[in-house]
Amino acid sequence: MEELYIKDSANTRGVPIIREQSHKILMQYVKKYNPKHILEIGTAVGYSAIAMLSSCSGDIITIEHNSALAAEATQNLSDAGFKSRAEIICDDCMVQIAQMVADDKYNNYFDFIFLDGPKAQYLGMLEGLVMLLKSGGVLLADNVLFRGYVKNLSTATKRYKTIALRLKKFIDAFMSHTDLIGTELIDIEDGMAFAIKK
Ligand SMILES: C[S@@+](CC[C@H](N)C(=O)[O-])C[C@H]1O[C@@H](n2cnc3c(N)ncnc32)[C@H](O)[C@@H]1O
Repeated sequence: MEELYIKDSANTRGVPIIREQSHKILMQYVKKYNPKHILEIGTAVGYSAIAMLSSCSGDIITIEHNSALAAEATQNLSDAGFKSRAEIICDDCMVQIAQMVADDKYNNYFDFIFLDGPKAQYLGMLEGLVMLLKSGGVLLADNVLFRGYVKNLSTATKRYKTIALRLKKFIDAFMSHTDLIGTELIDIEDGMAFAIKK
């Protein structure tokens, strides 16, 4: 009920949240791997964070740079009964990832990372995220095909082409990463990329 309200409210206001089929895939993986510690890049209003916490027994750290969205997510997670299992960090994800990488506590710590933040920075986050992921942990990235532009660059405007080109480089690096196995490009909706850390 809570989730449906948050979804409708986000959609009405044009706040980007995970789409329906991608949400199903995210839920399948969270249920399958039942992570203890989740890291999410890109909280928005907490819709996917609530969905993940509802499907496992673990906790989550989720990062959002927009303070109004982070405040709304904090309220939504609390209302959904997840206050004690969720930490919402309001900051730039690149800054936070660098800090976590420098903190021994978080190296090889997360069982599940959901990457759903700034698409142009996915490549720049990849190495850090792999370091934060535990062996056997899941890295799932959303929006990697970016409205089909990654496959059809000629249809993108100049600005979107820059993002699509960066995402293409991210996909290449992700699929060939020596520390990632079972890599899969899931061609539904905006596209997802899945891998497990060796
Ligand atoms: C697609 S939305 C996240 C949706 C959310 N995961 C869900 O499905 O409910 C991406 C979010 O990333 C946030 N974002 C963009 N750039 C960021 C950055 N550099 N650091 C942290 N958050 C960022 C945006 O404000 C936006 O809320």
